[in-house]
Amino acid sequence: MSAVIEERRGRVALLRLNNPPVNGLGWPVREGLDAAVGRLSDDPDVDAIVLTGNGRMFCAGADIREFGTATPEHVRRLTPILDDLEGLDKPVVAAIHGVAAGGGMELALGCHYRVCGPKTKLGLPEVTLGILPGAGGTQRMPRVAGVSKALELIVSGRLISEKEAFEAGIVDELVEGDVEAVIDAAVAAAERLAAAGEPPRRSGQRTDRLHEAKDNPGLFDAFRESMAKRARGMNAPYACVRCVEAATRLDLAEGLAFERQEFEQLVNAVEAQSMRHAFFAEREVAKIPDVPKDTATRPIQTAGIVGCGTMGGGIAMVFANAGIPVMVVENDQAALDAGIAKIAKNYAATVSKGRLTQAAMDQRMGLITGTTDFLSLAATDMVVEAVFEDMAVKKELFAKLDGICKPGAILATNTSTLDVDEIATATKRPQDVIGTHFFSPANVMRLMENVRGAKTADDVIATVMGLSKTLGKVGVLVGVCHGFVGNRMLHQYLREAMFLVEEGALPQDIDRVMYDFGMPMGPFAMCDLAGNDVGWRVRQEQIRAQGGKPSNTRYSGTVADKICDLGRFGQKTGKGWFAYADGRTPQPDPEVEAIIVQTSKELGIARRAVSDDEILERCLYPLVNEGAKILDEGIALRASDIDVVWMHGYGFPRFRGGPMFWADTVGLKTIAATLQRFEKDQGPWMAPSPLLLKLAEEGKGFGDA
Ligand code: 3HC
Ligand code: NAI
Repeated sequence: MSAVIEERRGRVALLRLNNPPVNGLGWPVREGLDAAVGRLSDDPDVDAIVLTGNGRMFCAGADIREFGTATPEHVRRLTPILDDLEGLDKPVVAAIHGVAAGGGMELALGCHYRVCGPKTKLGLPEVTLGILPGAGGTQRMPRVAGVSKALELIVSGRLISEKEAFEAGIVDELVEGDVEAVIDAAVAAAERLAAAGEPPRRSGQRTDRLHEAKDNPGLFDAFRESMAKRARGMNAPYACVRCVEAATRLDLAEGLAFERQEFEQLVNAVEAQSMRHAFFAEREVAKIPDVPKDTATRPIQTAGIVGCGTMGGGIAMVFANAGIPVMVVENDQAALDAGIAKIAKNYAATVSKGRLTQAAMDQRMGLITGTTDFLSLAATDMVVEAVFEDMAVKKELFAKLDGICKPGAILATNTSTLDVDEIATATKRPQDVIGTHFFSPANVMRLMENVRGAKTADDVIATVMGLSKTLGKVGVLVGVCHGFVGNRMLHQYLREAMFLVEEGALPQDIDRVMYDFGMPMGPFAMCDLAGNDVGWRVRQEQIRAQGGKPSNTRYSGTVADKICDLGRFGQKTGKGWFAYADGRTPQPDPEVEAIIVQTSKELGIARRAVSDDEILERCLYPLVNEGAKILDEGIALRASDIDVVWMHGYGFPRFRGGPMFWADTVGLKTIAATLQRFEKDQGPWMAPSPLLLKLAEEGKGFGDA
């Protein structure tokens, strides 16, 4: 079937984009659109045109898979096609439903009038792909929505509701009902406009909304300043601003040429490649090769959470936020009351920031029921356990759940390190047991590591992967090992940061390098946020388990232990690796520096200048190396899954595509050779993994593994 289907509604031509699943503007669609515009402009039987999308949406923009490939000569770019469309003397009306994003939004802006249905998302998300709206979006959006609104939309890439779009003047008419109702309204609008006989209102010729910039010449500099933190390390957001700025001083043709130039600079750069990788990695992650897409899932209409501490409370909120009633169970009433009160406090804080209405909070709290009676879990579809990280406690609990829960209920553990298979042995239904490793704070962080046990049933995996999406999370399927994917790699990163401190760097040096690299914060600020006492207890436990003796490899906790001995547990105690005078902002502390210098002396290490390059390589190459081992062991299904874990669990910069993709851009040869040098200088833990060495020797990347 044709990529653009033409129908007639009286004297109105109706064009339906037809390129499932998202009506991406690939070559056939552009060809079809181009031909239709040419044909209809001269058709004496056509007074007006309505453009819509077949299927579930209007159009999600350019076909992202085509970037970086050569376009056949006879296929024109979208920009000149839209120029022709906008230039038509017959009114062109967009009938929008579902999604109008990127080139799809630009197509709608090229129309003379926009009608939009309910539950629609509109916007220009190109910046999230490391590019800019390259088919006139940077020129037409400010002319239609005003300069400030356009800047905010284009630089954030945010998709907005049809109501917000209407208020901004992006949409002219809102319609209730299904896509056919939207088309009917658009046809009526087209007939009305044709009958009025006035020249079409062309977005590209409008100037009324550009005055804002003339009245406030400092607008762009102020905007650049406001986005500096968010946009650090990236080019695309700044190019977006330059293009919108150009729209305020150039005419449409000149502005489009400027936009084109800026687009060309971005589209094949590493930043855009990384972000495209991130886009597809996030979609690939849902595909499990041995669990078919059509595997029947178990309905999850109710959930139970055992343990209402830091994680259990957050997880209960996650379910309630998704509209799923949740029963929270604690051992004793006092712990339950404290847990529920903490949930209420968290919601109230969101309400006070204006990000949630009181009514929504009440509705969500209404979905959460607390109890100390485990029998209340008898009818629930799924239980998530979030009790202490102790194998004996967890096994006892799973045996109890096995006796209480109905057949087919999914029994999930939020353990961050323990063996899911061993936990499953406490039940007579290991096929129903799975790990759901949420990240703290569970109601904020988007990652869920879903841990597949040796006996976990396919439909349990399919259900939990689907549930992740329902809960607004990104689920990544991982295998059983200590720390799974994320924390196992994190361990490498933190260890080297600690060693570097002993050798000559200071926490603020390391944090600055990692922050500039694009991480939301450096490793020391992160430890202070999570609480230094957590790792301290783990280290003490390990040493106890080793009979009081440290292991024979170099110990990385010497400074950290001293910091904890002083009660410097981090932000919550006002002091940690840094001081927090205002409770939130890390400031270097001379007391910590003195401890560090003294420790180096005690360890017999002559402190030296550590370069920024060394900090980056020491912290990140071992992390990547661990990722290679994880991949080799089959703990992660794909290198890109590891990237998703790090982007959503730890804030690894999206514009670098995640650690494994980033490693490919650095070159595995370079990483392997540097690790070999570190192995000689530091110790055997730095040895490159067999997979990393093999790929490096073959001149390949993780993307080829
Ligand atoms: N190009 C190619 N494939 C696309 C695509 C696009 N623009 N948008 C989505 N897809 C694919 C996905 O990869 C997925 O494929 P799969 O089933 O093989 O994994 C399939 O379409 C369905 O996508 P989702 O799973 O994401 O579907 P959702 O319903 O959850 O979301 C959406 C729909 C909101 C439209 C989301 O897909 C999305 O955000 N798409 C990208 C939108 C975008 O960034 N557009 C800008 C493109 S760049 C551009 O237009 C440049 C222009 O300025 C010149
Ligand atoms: P927490 O100590 O804050 O909460 C544990 C809660 O479980 C307490 O309220 C306790 O009263 C309750 N509890 C203990 N035994 C119980 C039992 N038998 N029955 C009912 N309730 C019981 O601990 P936290 O931090 O919430 O951790 C819970 C689990 O989540 C652990 O397995 C931990 O490893 C994991 N996890 C923790 C993360 C974190 O950042 N805190 C991140 C990801 C996972």
